[in-house]
Amino acid sequence: MASFLETSVDIAREAGALVAQHFARHIPYELKGEHDLVTAADRASERFVVERLRAHFPTHTIVAEEGGGVDGSSEYRWYVDPLDGTTNFAHGLPHYNVTLGLERAGEMIAGVIYDPMRNEMFAAERGGGAFLNSHRIHTSAVKRVSESLLSTGFPNRNRPANKNVHFYYQLAMASHGIRRAGSAALDAAWVACGRLEAFWEFGLKPWDMAAGVIIVQEAGGRVSDMRGGPVKIGGVHVLMDNGSIHDEMLAWFADIFAGKYKIPIPAIE
Ligand code: IPD
Ligand code: CA
Ligand code: CA
Repeated sequence: MASFLETSVDIAREAGALVAQHFARHIPYELKGEHDLVTAADRASERFVVERLRAHFPTHTIVAEEGGGVDGSSEYRWYVDPLDGTTNFAHGLPHYNVTLGLERAGEMIAGVIYDPMRNEMFAAERGGGAFLNSHRIHTSAVKRVSESLLSTGFPNRNRPANKNVHFYYQLAMASHGIRRAGSAALDAAWVACGRLEAFWEFGLKPWDMAAGVIIVQEAGGRVSDMRGGPVKIGGVHVLMDNGSIHDEMLAWFADIFAGKYKIPIPAIE
């Protein structure tokens, strides 16, 4: 019998091909909120993924972004983002993915993130290491924030309440730079394979981060909330990094949370 990971890799690959077909046709978007985009591709991908998961694992719970999930009787729970990076997708920017994470009794045990534009499949199972297209991946060996390339994001919902601009500015000045590429799961996947040293965000939903958590951990990185507490799937904030800069990142965050800015914000004349 195929493992959870093998099954989810197959499902993510097929769903990725499905969304990529829609991408090529430049389909229109609708608004779920003032700045929250959704397309027929998000819905079609979710229907496909949920149907396939239900066929393989009829007792599992499925939590899916577009509302197509189901309650199951077992201790297994899937988090599904059928299209992560919808704003990019809707604007024709080829940076998005399909991601599935599996939790068992409160612990992430498997995750996949599939980028159909680059044909890159990131996958990990608890205790088995992390992989990119079947090659083992590891987080980077960079030891200092000042030598790091970082990434973050800004959720589409509840924008004015988001505090991240403070963190963005301080860390942008302290590092090689910050990327805001528009796909939380790929941010995590790229930390796992060493293209980025760290990723953080406020207000991520469970499906945005579930697979990334286990893939980064299995690649040798560290994951916590931004105050150093245990990571919570769908928690208020999350930090995922290469492990080596974790303590330094937390020290920067602690200062910023306390209103202490190492780098003053320039005045506008
Ligand atoms: C969004 C993306 C984005 C992140 C937002 C997410 P969606 O997911 O991952 O990078 O900053 O917080 O909501 O809406 O495209 O699935
Ligand atoms: Ca998402
Ligand atoms: Ca989505």
